[in-house]
Amino acid sequence: KEIIEPADKVYTIAHRGASGYAPENTLPAFQLAAQMKADSIELDVHLTKDLIPVVIHDETVNRTTDGKGYVKNMTLEQLRQLDAGSWFNQDFPMFARDLYIGVTIPTLDEVFDKLGSDINYVIEIKDPPPKYNIEEILNETIKNHHLEKLVAIHSFSAASLKRFHAINPDIPLYQLVWNDYAATRVTQSYLDTVKTYAVGISPNFQGISAAYVAQVKRAGLKIIPYTVNYQLNMDKAYSWGVDGVHTNYPDRFLEVIAVNRE
Ligand code: G3P
Ligand code: MG
Repeated sequence: KEIIEPADKVYTIAHRGASGYAPENTLPAFQLAAQMKADSIELDVHLTKDLIPVVIHDETVNRTTDGKGYVKNMTLEQLRQLDAGSWFNQDFPMFARDLYIGVTIPTLDEVFDKLGSDINYVIEIKDPPPKYNIEEILNETIKNHHLEKLVAIHSFSAASLKRFHAINPDIPLYQLVWNDYAATRVTQSYLDTVKTYAVGISPNFQGISAAYVAQVKRAGLKIIPYTVNYQLNMDKAYSWGVDGVHTNYPDRFLEVIAVNRE
């Protein structure tokens, strides 16, 4: 039986910020993650019509703001008018209104300005637009803030990650893997291909097992599953020797790590 060693450093990555407690991909969610002492914040990036990287998960503003429409069809000025906080915690609208009044979709620049070098960043390239070089724009933004050492990039798009790797091979990249494929795609040849441009994979937790984690680690890749929100699954992930997890509840995973290290 294989002996599973815990990774030297197990990362707690706040998925869309501490999004279990505050509206996802907003400054309050990122600041809360930093307060909780998460190692990193994960954030999703799209380009506006005027090619500014903004932090929002969906390609439209419909779910997480009071507006409607595609991010790529709106200018930053138009996006700034939208309320990105009030949708959160709709069961307690008064509570949410008081806490998140005036919360807007942040630009990547604003997140970097606010959080600076207090935390690490995992930036997700969402739906890379075919017409524009989002990888180049992101690399420039990271360099302008001198955050090269604190940033990792992940994406479901292998093409986008390969483009980023060609632009800047020093920033660590993680290949995101869908649940449907998680169990089947972890062949040695798949891992060998990923290794040519990435340092690790981030599969959906639902598709992995102890054996899966062991295989990825044997291949010399890191493994950071998403999105692990409940203690039972956090305990499992930790015991399988993952290098970290993406979670909406960073405080819970920090506790799991602390208990296991006692
Ligand atoms: O942390 C991984 C995760 O961000 C990928 O999925 O849809 O939450 O961006 P999604
Ligand atoms: Mg994401």
